[in-house]
Amino acid sequence: MNGGSSAHLPPLLPGGLPFLGHAFDFWNRPIELLQSGQRRFGSIWSLVLAGQRATVLTGPEGNEAFFRAPDDVLSARECYQFTIPVFGPGVAYDVAPAEMDRQLAFVHPALTERRLRRYVEIMVEETNQYLASWGDSGERDLFSSTQDITLFIATRCLLGEEVRRHCSSQFAELYHDLDGGMSILAYFFPHAPLPAFRRRDRAREAVSTLLSGIMTARRQAGDTTHEDFLDTLMAYRDERNAPLPDHVIVGLLLTLIFAGQHTSAALAAWTGILLHQHPQYLAPVREELKRELDGAGVTYESLKRLVRLERAMKEGERLRPPLVMLMRAVLQPLRVNGYELPAGSLAVASPAVSHRLPTLYSEPDRFDPDRFAPGREEDRRASYALIGFGGGKHRCLGMVFAYQQIKIIWTSILRRYDVELVEATYRPDYRTLVVGPRQPCRIRYKRRPS
Ligand code: HEM
Repeated sequence: MNGGSSAHLPPLLPGGLPFLGHAFDFWNRPIELLQSGQRRFGSIWSLVLAGQRATVLTGPEGNEAFFRAPDDVLSARECYQFTIPVFGPGVAYDVAPAEMDRQLAFVHPALTERRLRRYVEIMVEETNQYLASWGDSGERDLFSSTQDITLFIATRCLLGEEVRRHCSSQFAELYHDLDGGMSILAYFFPHAPLPAFRRRDRAREAVSTLLSGIMTARRQAGDTTHEDFLDTLMAYRDERNAPLPDHVIVGLLLTLIFAGQHTSAALAAWTGILLHQHPQYLAPVREELKRELDGAGVTYESLKRLVRLERAMKEGERLRPPLVMLMRAVLQPLRVNGYELPAGSLAVASPAVSHRLPTLYSEPDRFDPDRFAPGREEDRRASYALIGFGGGKHRCLGMVFAYQQIKIIWTSILRRYDVELVEATYRPDYRTLVVGPRQPCRIRYKRRPS
C-alpha cells in the first residue's frame, strides 16, 4: 500500500486476519461483507485483501468514479491476468487497454441488427433442439440446462456451424478444461504446476488447432457465407489491407465465449427461478407470450415486444447479477468524495450491493419487475444505478445478444411447459467467478396442452 496522506484514505474496515486481512470473508461471503461495510461507512470504504488495500465504491457516486476513470488510472488489465493462459497471448488483457479496445471493435460487425436477426433463428433452433430431449415431463437441473443451451448457442453463433455440427462435444470438453483454469488459484498463481492448469494449457492448444483447421478450410473453399463471429473476424482488414492473425481471432473468440456464456446461463436460470417464485409476475408474462407470439412466432420484432419478460430479466439482473464484483487496479491516485485511492491499491465496484440500495430502489430486496415500467423506471433515478452489464467505456459488448438469447430460452420453455420449482430455496453460489444458483437447482416440467 502506498501513496496519499493517511488523512485522505477511505475508512478501513476493522477486523480481518494478519496479512490475509478480509480475504477469507471476501471470497466466502462477499456480499454480506460488502453490505456490512456499506451500512457502516456508506459508498466509499476499504478493506484489506492479502496485504493489499481494496476500496469498495458503491452507489451512484462510487460507481461513477469507478466507471468513468480512464484506463491509466483504474485498470482492469492487472486484475484479469488469470485469463491470459485461456484467452491466449496478444489479445484482451495481455495487451495495452487501447489495443484491447481496438480488438474488441473488430467484433462490432458481428452484432449488427442484420446479424442479430440471424442469431434469432439460430438461438430458436438450438433451444428447440435441446428441449426436444426433455420429452413431455421430467425434472432437470435448471442451471445445467441453461449452461448447455448457452454453450450450444455460443458455439454456433461465434465459432460456426462446423464446430457445432462436427465437434460440439469435443469443444465442450475442451471448454470445460479451459474453464478449470479460471479459478481463484489462477488469480494468484496462474502458472502453478497443477494438473488443472496443465489440462487448461493442453485444451488451449487443441482449441487453437481446431479453429485454425476450420479457418484454413473456409479460406481454401473461399467460403464467406457464414454469418457468425468467426466470419466477421476473418473478414476484417486493417488500413494496409492485412487480415487479423489467426491467434488473435482464436483469442478474441475465446474472450467472447468466456465473457458471455456462463453469465448468460446464470441470468437465464435466475430469471426463470425468480419468475416462478413470484407467480403474480409469471401470469402476465405468459399472457404476453400468447398475445405477441401465437400469430407472429418468435422473430426479432416479436421478441422486442416482450416487455414484461424483459422487465423480469432486468429485475433478475438487478437482484442476481452474474458478476457480483468488478475489480480494477489503481495505477494513479484517484480522488473520490474527498478521499484518495492510492496507487498500488485495488478498486471494487459491486453490482450486487449497488442494486440493493434503498436510496435507488424502493423495497430493494423485493422482486418487482414493474419498477422498470414506464412511469416508475427506478433505474433512471441516477446514473449507474443498474450495472449488471457494467458501465462506461468497458460496458458489456454482448448485452443485446445476451438479452435476446435469454428471452428465447424462456419463450421456448414457457410456451411448451408448465414449470415448478423443486428446491426449497435457490441461493447464489459465490464460490465461482460467475455467480449462478447453487446446485442442485432443479425444476419439474410438464408439457402444456396444445
Ligand atoms: C447475462 C449476460 C452477461 C452479463 C451479466 C455480462 C456482464 C458484463 C459486465 C459486468 C462487464 C463489465 C466488466 C468490467 O467492467 O470489469 C462485461 C464486459 C464485457 N462483456 Fe459481458 N456480460 C454478459 C454477456 C456477454 C456476452 C453474450 C458477450 C459476448 C458475446 C459479452 C462480452 C463482453 C465483453 C467483450 C466485455 C469487455 C468489454 C470491455 O472491457 O470493453 N458479454 N460484461
